[in-house]
Amino acid sequence: MSVQIGNIDLGEFPLLLAPMEDVSDPPFRYVCKQHGADMMYTEFISSEGLIRDAAKSLKKLDIFEYERPIGIQIFGSDIEHMREASAISSQAGPDLIDINYGCPVKNVACRGAGASLLQDIDKMVAMTKAVVEATHLPVTVKTRLGWDDNTKNVQEVAMRLQDVGIKALTIHGRTRAQMYKGSADWTLIREIKKNPLINIPIFGNGDIDSPEKAAAWRMEYGVDGMMIGRAAIGYPWIFREIKHYFKTGQHLDKPTFAERIDACRTHLVKSIEWKGPKTGVFEMRRHYSNYFKGIDNFKEYRMKLVTAGTFEELEEILHEIEHNPKFENYVHSVEI
Ligand SMILES: Cc1cc2nc3c(=O)[nH]c(=O)nc-3n(C[C@H](O)[C@H](O)[C@H](O)COP(=O)(O)O)c2cc1C
Repeated sequence: MSVQIGNIDLGEFPLLLAPMEDVSDPPFRYVCKQHGADMMYTEFISSEGLIRDAAKSLKKLDIFEYERPIGIQIFGSDIEHMREASAISSQAGPDLIDINYGCPVKNVACRGAGASLLQDIDKMVAMTKAVVEATHLPVTVKTRLGWDDNTKNVQEVAMRLQDVGIKALTIHGRTRAQMYKGSADWTLIREIKKNPLINIPIFGNGDIDSPEKAAAWRMEYGVDGMMIGRAAIGYPWIFREIKHYFKTGQHLDKPTFAERIDACRTHLVKSIEWKGPKTGVFEMRRHYSNYFKGIDNFKEYRMKLVTAGTFEELEEILHEIEHNPKFENYVHSVEI
C-alpha cells in the first residue's frame, strides 16, 4: 500500500532523509536523491529569521525541481510568527511544510521552540493549527518521545496534532533529555502506529544505520516508513542498500571506491554551484572525512582536502586519490 501525504504519493514504505542543520542543504540532498531518498527536508529554518528577512534563513528556502517531494522545515516559539513563516515558506514552492518539535539544543529548546513545545502541548496544538491554516500545503510534524523519561507524551501529541490537521508524523525515538545519547527506543512509536484512532502515516526515526536493522525494525515496529539522518552523512548509498535488501533479502554491493569519489565530487560541485566558490569549498570541508571514513593511511589526503582552497586543487587531489593503488581494494562500511 502506497503512503500518502495529502496528494503526495510516496510509494510503499518510503525512506526519508532527515532534516539536519548544516548538513541537509541542496548539495547534500542532491547526492541523497541520486541514491534513493524518497522524500527530503530542508534544514530547520527559524521563523524569526524568515520574518526578519534574514539572508541565511531565506537562502535555506531554495529548493529545486529534482528534489521533489520536499518539505521545508520551520521552527519557532511564537505562534503568530510561525503562522507567518508557514505562509512565507509555502511561497517558496515546497511540497509540504514540516514543523520541528524535536530540536533539543539549548539555544532552540530553551527559547521555547523545538522540543520545548513538548512541555506545553496546548501551545503546540495552537501553533500547529496556525501553521496548517496559513498554507494550502500538507503540514507534517517531527518530534521526540517527550521531554524526559517522566513525560513521554508523544501519544497525546499524535492524537491532538492529527485532530488539527497534520498529514504525517515522524517520531525520533528519544526524549529531549537524551539529546543524541543512548539508543533510540521505538516501542512507543509502535503503540501509536497500532492505535486505531491514528490514521496519518507514522514514520520512525533514530539509529537506522544498516539494511538489517531497517528490515528488522520495519517488522517489529510496523511503521509506515523511516527517516534516516546520520547514517546518510558521507554514505548516501544507505537508501538504495536498504531498498534492495527489502526487495531481495540480499545485500547490494557496497559502492566502489570510484563511486565514493564520484559522490564526493558531485557534492563538491553542487556545493560550489549553490554557495559560490569560496563558501562552497569551505563548507565542503566538513564532509570529506565522512566520505572517506575508515580508510587506512588516509590522513595525508584528508589534510590536503581540508586545506585546499579551490575547486581545481580539490579536483587534482581527488584524481590523485582515485589513482592511488593503495586504495584499490578499499570497501567502505558504515560507522557511526
Ligand atoms: C548534525 C545534525 C543536525 C540536525 N538538525 C536537525 C534539524 O534541523 N531538524 C530536525 O528536525 N532534526 C535535526 N536533527 C535530528 C535528525 O533529523 C534525526 O532526528 C536524528 O539525527 C536521529 O536520526 P538518525 O539516528 O537517523 O541520525 C539533526 C541531527 C544531526 C546529527
